[in-house]
Amino acid sequence: MCGIVGYVGRQKAAPILIEGLKRLEYRGYDSAGLAVLQGPRIEVVKKTGRVDVLAKAAAPRRLAGATGIGHTRWATHGGVTEANAHPHLSSDGSFALVHNGVIENHAAIRRFLAAKGYTFASETDTEALVNLIAYHHAKEPEPAPDTGKSRFLESVRRALMHVEGAYGIAVLCAACPGEIVAARKASPLVLGVGDREHLLASDVAALASRTQNVVYLKDGELLHLTPGRFAIITQDEEDVPPVVDRITWDTAGAELGDHRHFMEKEIFEQPAALENAMRGRFSEDGSTANFGGLNLTPAELRQVGRLVLLGCGTAWHACLVAEHLVERFARLPVEVDYASEFRYRNTPLDRDTLFFVMSQSGETIDTLGALREARRKGFKVLAINNTVGSSIAREADGGIYQHVGPEIGVASTKAFTSQLLLGAIIALYIARMRDMSYNDGLEYVKALKAAPGLVRRVLAQAPRIREIARRHAHYKDMLFLGRLSLFPIALEGALKLKEISYIHAEGYPAAEMKHGPIALVSPECPAVFFAPKGEIFNKLVSSIQEIKARRGRTIVITTEGCELPPGVADELIHLPDCHEAVLPIVATIPVQLLSYYIAVELGCDVDKPRNLAKSVTVE
Ligand code: AGP
Repeated sequence: MCGIVGYVGRQKAAPILIEGLKRLEYRGYDSAGLAVLQGPRIEVVKKTGRVDVLAKAAAPRRLAGATGIGHTRWATHGGVTEANAHPHLSSDGSFALVHNGVIENHAAIRRFLAAKGYTFASETDTEALVNLIAYHHAKEPEPAPDTGKSRFLESVRRALMHVEGAYGIAVLCAACPGEIVAARKASPLVLGVGDREHLLASDVAALASRTQNVVYLKDGELLHLTPGRFAIITQDEEDVPPVVDRITWDTAGAELGDHRHFMEKEIFEQPAALENAMRGRFSEDGSTANFGGLNLTPAELRQVGRLVLLGCGTAWHACLVAEHLVERFARLPVEVDYASEFRYRNTPLDRDTLFFVMSQSGETIDTLGALREARRKGFKVLAINNTVGSSIAREADGGIYQHVGPEIGVASTKAFTSQLLLGAIIALYIARMRDMSYNDGLEYVKALKAAPGLVRRVLAQAPRIREIARRHAHYKDMLFLGRLSLFPIALEGALKLKEISYIHAEGYPAAEMKHGPIALVSPECPAVFFAPKGEIFNKLVSSIQEIKARRGRTIVITTEGCELPPGVADELIHLPDCHEAVLPIVATIPVQLLSYYIAVELGCDVDKPRNLAKSVTVE
């Protein structure tokens, strides 16, 4: 996790770095810091807490330097203290470094350097690396001027040869005014090419306000920046011809507007987000799907015997719903796994297996690791991803972009429902190659196109759901129960509540209650129950009655027009009647709103919940 930024140009670096860090705060917010070259000195300001705290601390320092680096931290090695905040200085003060990732062999490097007299002021893995760079710089002779080589770049390159782990780094050298060296391995890094200035960031969001021209660094590449020039080399010192991409980043999408939180904004954006995610995805005759980027012919897809779907957290829940829909409509076997488990499990796999990874950020290291593992074994891996140019998007064999714009709130909302939608469209696509008829295809497509309108209808119940939230904010435990395609939505409801309100919540398949969790039921542990219309409606009602019989409180989410026996629901939320493929999307909205309003009621920091980060780039 962590976000890093860098600037070299003609403007004052500090305000540009702070602006960039604000855009990257979703990646971690335990502490923030920056380092600016002021003449021959590196000035460092760092603070625990948010970027705003850093901005206040930096203001009186009147930092005028035009070269600098910055960092927002999600703590891994070492507690949340100012000493552990980045940037880290080498013990002689000659280098400053910001780092996203984990240096796995930091202890060995520390021991080596300590024996040579280097000292350490923090508990971080990063400080080992900045001192290792200083060590190599001291050993490295100044190259002859005609070679065009940089001693600074060479010192970083040599130090990195001894590093195991993941890193996106940016480095300042007190003796090299107007220069930054950066490098990446398994942590993202983007270069922004501006007008006689260069920017660096973990994510394009941090540089999009200054330039649209970007270069995505690849693993093992190093970058040398000055205001007027940049050069990329590999670890083996080969020059890399840069590929400059042009981003079309909607900076308005990353603004809060009239909303109190990004999560609220993103929940209410969902009708539009779903429209964007489905735009261009249906065939002209409206009976099947249309995917441009799968890089698989229909004949190749027809040969697939099994899908494996991988993701983490909320994306894993979306995979579970897709599993249900693909098996139900396309009759194709599907396996879902946590990406983090898959990569180490060494599952036996049939040759006709096709992989999908789902990831909003496209940078989740567990998902990226799983993708690499599957590709290493010779399988095709497609990605469902929201972040254009992300590592997963670039390394996958093909895929589908979610097109829902930046999601800033740490709790995923619009990205999740768009993943549900794309899972449903994939089910349709495969189903129409197999047993689904033309007419059933037409009906399915019509149903999916109605999804944004149905979501709007559920959102209109927000004031009522807010009242329900007020009545339930004081509980310490909650259950979320559902069956079939709504079991994963129960998991998602529980995850949303946990992550933003810190209330303990469990998601369970409703019929599993009686095999254990029913022991938790009491007036102090309300249950959110999905009981939509359908074949098992009566069985769901029986499960609710089992809760009522044990004096449990129930919040029942059912379909308009469904009759519940009196006294079964303490609170009732209605969903519009809809197609099975749309139901998970529509059913997600009440649990998002419930969690959001409970967290607001409790005064929680909704967009930046404690201990979390939006993009999880460490294992
Ligand atoms: C969602 O609310 C979570 N914060 C988290 O579970 C997230 O979905 C997970 O980390 C995966 O992220 P990704 O989609 O960016 O890969």
